[in-house]
Amino acid sequence: MSPHYISLILALLSGPPALAGDKPVSPIPPASGLDSRKVELGALIYHDIRLSDSGRIACASCHDLNRGGTNWSPLSHDSKGNVRKRNTPSTFNTSLNFHLHWDGRFSELEPEALNGIISIHGLDTPLANFLQALREHPQYPKRFAERYADGITKDNLADALATFERSLVTPDSPFDRYLLGDKKALSRDARDGYRLFKQYGCISCHQGVNLGGNLFARIGIATPIPPNSLAARDLGRFGVTGRKRDKHVFRVPSLRNVAVTPPYLHNGSIATLDETIRLMGLFQLGRKIPAADRQKIKAFLHGLTGKYQGKTLQAPPSADSELTIRSHTRLAPEAK
Ligand code: HEC
Ligand code: HEC
Repeated sequence: MSPHYISLILALLSGPPALAGDKPVSPIPPASGLDSRKVELGALIYHDIRLSDSGRIACASCHDLNRGGTNWSPLSHDSKGNVRKRNTPSTFNTSLNFHLHWDGRFSELEPEALNGIISIHGLDTPLANFLQALREHPQYPKRFAERYADGITKDNLADALATFERSLVTPDSPFDRYLLGDKKALSRDARDGYRLFKQYGCISCHQGVNLGGNLFARIGIATPIPPNSLAARDLGRFGVTGRKRDKHVFRVPSLRNVAVTPPYLHNGSIATLDETIRLMGLFQLGRKIPAADRQKIKAFLHGLTGKYQGKTLQAPPSADSELTIRSHTRLAPEAK
């Protein structure tokens, strides 16, 4: 399929923003203009398990900043330990996404943060209980009063969490240094990989500063996904809009830090980048990408790992191991 055809389908699928596949990618800007005291308050809440009803879970339990903002598990678990149907996306660089969640049901960090509290996929805690826990705490009333004239309110809670999330950016990846003129910041393979990423047309979907996060696309747009496959079970954006044409449509995820956030896809079913690249070639582009090209694209994707508070994000010790694939396949076998 020609890149033009893909652009056309995408434009039809997603409407504005217009395709920017030819525009150069810009580096991640460092966080600036944030009230550091609100960032600090948001960080405390983000990590505080005592505020949830169960007393055992915080945002950081699933979005662990030492695990690329994810939990490195295929699927998320709710507070009662039940397996949910989606993989946990990273909280890094979300302020640069236009759409949030795999099905793009949110576009702003504030309502999303409150959702993270009440949702069974999140802290599973009614907002009134969460606010009450803050009010009864020896420290939070004072901390809120110092930062917000009206103290502890729903809006101020959302603001503190969202302000903290805006501080979760990871600038200074090798790719960003390359974009800023340091051509040696990427290895030769990674530079070739970037060229292939553009040539194959990955960039028509994974575009903009986050290499994703700003478009929707159907999975299986070039080669239909098998009707009984694991991927076919989740109807994606259809669950939000109810429109037939949104079946199996997902938010194109950001590829920033993708090397440190396995496993992949909305259902966490793919453990390795190599296999994800192969499937993207097949299902999204109708192309069989040879192993040597996949290797280079993978080197490029590794160059997208940035720094938080000056430290490069770390991959799990077992990243890219075939073992993880097998154990997960046993959990949720692909129907024939
Ligand atoms: C039990 C695990 C869990 C907890 C706890 C949790 N989340 Fe999430 N979070 C998820 C999952 C899973 C998704 C994706 C849901 C989907 O797409 O259907 C998500 C999505 C998000 C996103 C969207 C990211 C993106 O780019 O799409 C943000 C931001 C976020 N959560 C922030 C928070 C905050 C803030 C809290 C605490 C108030 C929180 N989460 C608590 C599991 C969790
Ligand atoms: C037609 C749009 C489109 C094209 C072209 C495309 N992708 Fe994707 N990509 C997506 C969508 C949508 C998802 C999410 C699919 C899902 O979760 O099931 C995705 C997911 C991914 C992921 C997993 C990210 C994560 O955090 O789970 C990687 C890696 C990826 N793509 C790389 C590539 C590469 C490399 C290419 C080119 C060979 C490419 N993509 C081409 C739309 C596209």
